[in-house]
Amino acid sequence: MLQQLRELEQSALTELEAVNDAKELELWRVRYLGKKSQLTQALRGLAALPVAERKTAGARANQLKAELEAALGQKELVLRNSQLSVASEAGYFDVSLPGRPYPVGHLHPITQTIYEVCDIFASLGFQVVEGPEVEWDYYNFEALNIPEEHPARDSMSTSWVDFKAEGVRPMLLRTHTTSLTARMIEARKPPIRLVEPGRVYRYEASDATHSPMFHQIDGIAIDTGITMADLKGTLYEFARRFFGENRGVRFRCDYFPFVEPGVEMAIECTVCNGSGCRLCGHSGWIEILGAGMAHPRVLERGGIDPEVYSGFAFGMGIDRMPMLRHGIDDIRLFYNNDLRFLSQF
Ligand code: DAH
Repeated sequence: MLQQLRELEQSALTELEAVNDAKELELWRVRYLGKKSQLTQALRGLAALPVAERKTAGARANQLKAELEAALGQKELVLRNSQLSVASEAGYFDVSLPGRPYPVGHLHPITQTIYEVCDIFASLGFQVVEGPEVEWDYYNFEALNIPEEHPARDSMSTSWVDFKAEGVRPMLLRTHTTSLTARMIEARKPPIRLVEPGRVYRYEASDATHSPMFHQIDGIAIDTGITMADLKGTLYEFARRFFGENRGVRFRCDYFPFVEPGVEMAIECTVCNGSGCRLCGHSGWIEILGAGMAHPRVLERGGIDPEVYSGFAFGMGIDRMPMLRHGIDDIRLFYNNDLRFLSQF
């Protein structure tokens, strides 16, 4: 009997070692611990044994039973753990866990506006170009018909880059993207059709409507036979697409040294729709851009013959546009990088 129990123990433990899943484990349990198992039979048969043998065999059989039950429990645990790790490796997850938001970024509202304006002009045949923010005095002023003593310099408070060296030409942070227009007139041959977006700088304290850095887009079209009608047609189309079909647009005379004649374009106020409010200074109109026919002297300086070619130019502030569209009343909100503000656009 003892011999039989020893063999039983060996085969049970060897087989248990080979068990790989719950199903196999159950079969093993039935085989070694079930009602019809050898061990149960042996325990039942104890009564028939002589007393001396019954004692030792009984103790041994009960011990084996406890041993096998413990091994079964152990194996169950091992199987459950390995199942869990297989499940998590396969990508199973607890569907009852609360979700974690995945932060998806987007373009800054100013960048979005620049893209939108450039897209409109691109569809009208304009190419997008960019240029340096640290600029020669020459392209920012001189080449644009604004010499040293010209009063227009005062209207653009300039941040100068001071080299403190003799004979070095003065540099500045460009005060308008029109500096790129001057560069392009010099660098390219007509026909020219360009839009020039970018950052510009003015030496000014910031408040709700001013920032020492803001954005502009300039544009230039030069070819034979370009007239004021082309300027108006192009800018009307831009306003129609950007501000909508029904928004009124108005041109008025204005003065800029680099164009002749010069105009300003205004749209009906987006807050009061033209009836007059605080935003539009009770005029019903909001000035959007400056424009005009390229000054012959500016063309000439850039090496383009004004007797052969003519062109129109325009320049607009970008920051005001999303402010008008969304009713934002402080330009500084764009530059404070507060995500509670920025993520709304
Ligand atoms: N550069 C001017 C400004 O910053 C805007 C401007 C006016 C640009 C007329 C132009 C233009 O190209 O033709 O106020």
